Amino acid sequence: MPARAEFLFHDLHPDTENLLDDVLSGLAQPRKSLAPKYFYDAVGSALFEAICTLPEYYPTRTELAMMQASAGEMARLLGPRCLLIEYGAGSGRKTRVLIEALMPPAYMAIDISRTALRQCATALAAAYPLMRVAAVCADYTRPLQLPAIDISASRRAIYFPGSTIGNFTRPEALAFLRHAHAIAGPGGAMLVGVDLKKDFARLHAAYNDAQGVTAAFNLNLLTRINRELGGNFDIGAFEHHAFYDADEGRIEMHLRSKRQQQAIVAGHTFHFRAGETIHTENSCKYSVEEFQQVARDAGFTAERCWTDAEHLFSIHLLTNVVQTTKMP
Ligand code: AVJ
Repeated sequence: MPARAEFLFHDLHPDTENLLDDVLSGLAQPRKSLAPKYFYDAVGSALFEAICTLPEYYPTRTELAMMQASAGEMARLLGPRCLLIEYGAGSGRKTRVLIEALMPPAYMAIDISRTALRQCATALAAAYPLMRVAAVCADYTRPLQLPAIDISASRRAIYFPGSTIGNFTRPEALAFLRHAHAIAGPGGAMLVGVDLKKDFARLHAAYNDAQGVTAAFNLNLLTRINRELGGNFDIGAFEHHAFYDADEGRIEMHLRSKRQQQAIVAGHTFHFRAGETIHTENSCKYSVEEFQQVARDAGFTAERCWTDAEHLFSIHLLTNVVQTTKMP
């Protein structure tokens, strides 16, 4: 009988996944908003997987191809015996490419979703029986203390693919990178995937696909609120609205009310003017130089950057260089 793959599960009990409180406070603001982390219920996660294969949505396939082309070089630069720490428990294709090149003795995934974590950790522990796997249920956007892991690693290497960092505003991204710099610790490193600024039409198309999958992904947030919080949103009375704001350097996604209406959630009534929107996502785009500056402001050294031939996407290797001070 084959040994069952095992992993360590550490629950730091992140208290932020509080859909009701966040929905009520987000809709009570003069400019209504909902956090993009709430897109990913089961249906939303499936719709996101569908987005990743759309002809217009270039980031996923571009980043995967870059990992396939450069994971060997990344592994050489990171060196042997890394503790690989992934922020988010993704579908794992890019992670597997990195693991196979790096062959880390231990892998730790940090995610707020217990289900996503268990799935990711179970699959990776089974696929790589020699690698120690740990799953940490926590909100990595906040300062956290990593559980000790019984492995002598040469350095910590944080992997944060997918341009998820684009969901943060620029000040939030700086604060996040400061935390990551502290978590990486002296001698640590971070590999981060960042979507690049580019032709506006290309950006617009990536968030306004012809098949309407992105629209369905956005609108599913209201379906989720109706189902999980007993809301009565008229889904057909809202429409997907996504545009590139060149001054902010970001795609904004909104749900726009087609008419004047009201919706009730958990006994609270929310009024919508015709054309009023709920802001559901920011997706910030950076130039290579701009992102390197944010990384340096957070204390990292911008060690190396990979881009694809079309200059659509970037992967940055950032390092936490140990400062050597001369003895008097
Ligand atoms: C998962 C945050 C990287 O911003 O491109 C895709 C999410 N939203 N289409 C992105 C998303 C609409 C995606 N990230």
